[in-house]
Amino acid sequence: PAEDKARAAEIKRLLVARNAVLVAHYYTDDAIQQLAEETGGCVADSLEMARFGARHEASTLVVAGVRFMGETAKILSPEKRVLMPTLEATCSLDLGCPAAEFNAFCDAHPDRTVVVYANTSAAVKARADWVVTSSIAVDVIEHLQARGEKVLWAPDKHLGGYIQQQTGADMLLWDGACIVHEEFKAKGIEDLKALHPDAAVLVHPESPAAVVQLADVVGSTSQLISAAKQLPNERMIVATDRGIFFKMQQAVPGKLLFEAPTAGNGATCKSCAHCPWMAMNALDNMATALREGSGEIRVDAALREKALKPLERMLNFKR
Ligand code: 13P
Ligand code: SF4
Repeated sequence: PAEDKARAAEIKRLLVARNAVLVAHYYTDDAIQQLAEETGGCVADSLEMARFGARHEASTLVVAGVRFMGETAKILSPEKRVLMPTLEATCSLDLGCPAAEFNAFCDAHPDRTVVVYANTSAAVKARADWVVTSSIAVDVIEHLQARGEKVLWAPDKHLGGYIQQQTGADMLLWDGACIVHEEFKAKGIEDLKALHPDAAVLVHPESPAAVVQLADVVGSTSQLISAAKQLPNERMIVATDRGIFFKMQQAVPGKLLFEAPTAGNGATCKSCAHCPWMAMNALDNMATALREGSGEIRVDAALREKALKPLERMLNFKR
């Protein structure tokens, strides 16, 4: 629509005027991902977003994603202004792990190394020894296990269970989940697979164990896009937020991609496989943020200093 074109043009002008760069996640709207690409920004998984923002020379980062991604950017680059289209965009994992309760959980298990998923608040990261994203979680836990460390893991029980099953590490799990990935149903995927026996099954590890068990490939959003390219299969069943199809289909234009069903009967649910918080990012509120400086991320200085250590461990980790 003409309105979207005008907004996109305005954002392009403002990005230049404000010395800003757009850092977008795969789950945001196609128009936002396209804009990020056209303007020299990035469309990426959460680890690559963190790396890109930290290394980029722009003085303002516009983070299109959810709040923990904006906070991570600010913690890594306190000298930069970090704007988000809306500060309301949170994550069920972050919401399900309040700092006070998490601190009490850690206090009760002082013998364990505290590893938290990136999908957490700055206050929770401040208590952690390590932060990980789904793309390196298994490698980091393997490394800790080799050093004989026992792990306290939060907040995603499905990702935690998957890592435990992959590594055999001693892990105590917080009881959190992603409301989007939790909706994928093994039965629905099996039924779809019966119709397309040649299809590869690609699964994000925030999905329940029964779904992960059916996967040919388990990985972060970026890893799933790479797998779609590398696998010989001409068809793919994909269990992650449907926002990923924009870049995945570009990567494999000739392949047929199916959304993994979110209901046991094999039907897809129109509002399930899309994160309601990612969906709050739009061209309109992004233009407003750039025009007015609204949606600025601020992180308390003392908290920032503490949260930086486990984040730097993640960025410096070599498998
Ligand atoms: P990725 O690190 O795979 O991009 O995952 C982030 C996320 O929030 C998935 O729901
Ligand atoms: Fe959080 Fe799930 Fe949304 Fe990712 S998809 S931001 S894990 S609620």
